[in-house]
Amino acid sequence: MKQSDVKATLSFSNGSPSVEFPVYAGSIGPDVLDIRKLYGETGMFTYDPGFMSTAACNSSITYIDGDKGELLYRGYPIEQLAVNCDFLDTCHLLLHGELPSATQKTEFVSTVTNHTMVHEQMQFFFRGFRRDAHPMSVLVGTVGALASFYHDSLDINDPKHRDVSAIRLVAKMPTLVAMAYKYSVGQPFVYPRNDLSFSANFMRMMFATPAADYKVNDVLVRALDRILILHADHEQNASTSTVRLAGSSGANPFACIAAGIACLWGPAHGGANEAALQMLQDIQRDGGVEKIGEFVAKVKDKNSNVKLMGFGHRVYKNYDPRAKLMRETCHEVLNELGLQNDPLFKLAMALEKIALEDEYFVSRKLYPNVDFYSGIVQSALGIPVSLFTGIFAMARTVGWIAQWKEMISDPEQKIGRPRQLFIGSPRRDVPSMAQRG
Ligand code: CMC
Repeated sequence: MKQSDVKATLSFSNGSPSVEFPVYAGSIGPDVLDIRKLYGETGMFTYDPGFMSTAACNSSITYIDGDKGELLYRGYPIEQLAVNCDFLDTCHLLLHGELPSATQKTEFVSTVTNHTMVHEQMQFFFRGFRRDAHPMSVLVGTVGALASFYHDSLDINDPKHRDVSAIRLVAKMPTLVAMAYKYSVGQPFVYPRNDLSFSANFMRMMFATPAADYKVNDVLVRALDRILILHADHEQNASTSTVRLAGSSGANPFACIAAGIACLWGPAHGGANEAALQMLQDIQRDGGVEKIGEFVAKVKDKNSNVKLMGFGHRVYKNYDPRAKLMRETCHEVLNELGLQNDPLFKLAMALEKIALEDEYFVSRKLYPNVDFYSGIVQSALGIPVSLFTGIFAMARTVGWIAQWKEMISDPEQKIGRPRQLFIGSPRRDVPSMAQRG
């Protein structure tokens, strides 16, 4: 890490000696104060619930400039990756730091496709679930269970094992997500086919049956591929931090990714696309475009607890660059399916226009995020709402595992162990039963 010439000094009003901290500069973005010696020198911790001002690691994978609305994977803008690359290019980039050359691409595609099948025994795990189980519950269970099948890649201190596990996870997630779907609708599992692209293979595993094969539609496959690219990584968000924290104890990568999936399941993280679609359907049912004004008034009323779902972001204080790309994809998919007049898409565009001109949203820098349009796209592709977060997990697996690998090879890595401000009872003696009242 590059130390800056600037130093920070912490002084105390009670006359305790002040402490000096080094400041490190990143290649872009905010500098950080290195407070590691704070406790040793002062006996104090920092207090930062929600990590509002804390960098928990250094990373060279993904960079977000929330004010500009910029997202870079390994330095490349998401807009260029979404147009010029496919998901496996993006996976190579995130995992290895560079886009693949033509030869590397062929090799990478072949490696991934050779790992798409899951152990035949895995189907018995699925059979243990109720048919109406939530796909995220099935995924937490089955991804964690992968660790009991692939003992030959669990040594986290062996770089080759780490690479094989990373590929296995990227390759097998679509198979598991599609199996979760097939199980829920009572159809037979469809095995992967390695002559298809990553996304076409997934669509086929989802929608083919023994009675009718899936006819690949390039526009729809490309749309899914774009969803995967846009969700592939997002620096130190909650689920990625969960993966890092789980991995910091030396846990195996399958267990760590299962932990990431569990975190992603929460509605404040991976569940928002479902909520955005639900909101649009509710407005549509209540009268559609005519009722937008009424709905926006409810959103602005602090007592209503109604939020404009798919709007606002902790980091982006500008248009989420992924939302623009998703809106474009939405157009393409609806045109392809002859749904240009889809009432939900029209409603979404009208709602976006009104919100972007409204003082409430402008003054709070609330813009559409990736989830505003992704629910419409996914349901047009035939993906059921309950699987939206599973698709997000399938895309994010590569980001999680790239971040996990980066952490394991970081010489500064330590087990994650936050401290606390204790506000409970001080030491006291256990009373006898008679004394307890
Ligand atoms: N609708 C109405 N008001 C909002 C919204 C919204 N969607 N988002 C934020 N605000 C208001 C909020 O009430 C607050 O107003 P005030 O200053 O008057 O109290 C102000 O804007 C600041 O909001 P905040 O809650 O402090 O912002 P945050 O950074 O804690 O929350 C958020 C970010 C994403 C949780 C929030 O914007 C939200 O709940 N949005 C809707 C859910 C959503 O679309 N989530 C998807 C996030 S993108 C997916 C991902 O990358 O994981």
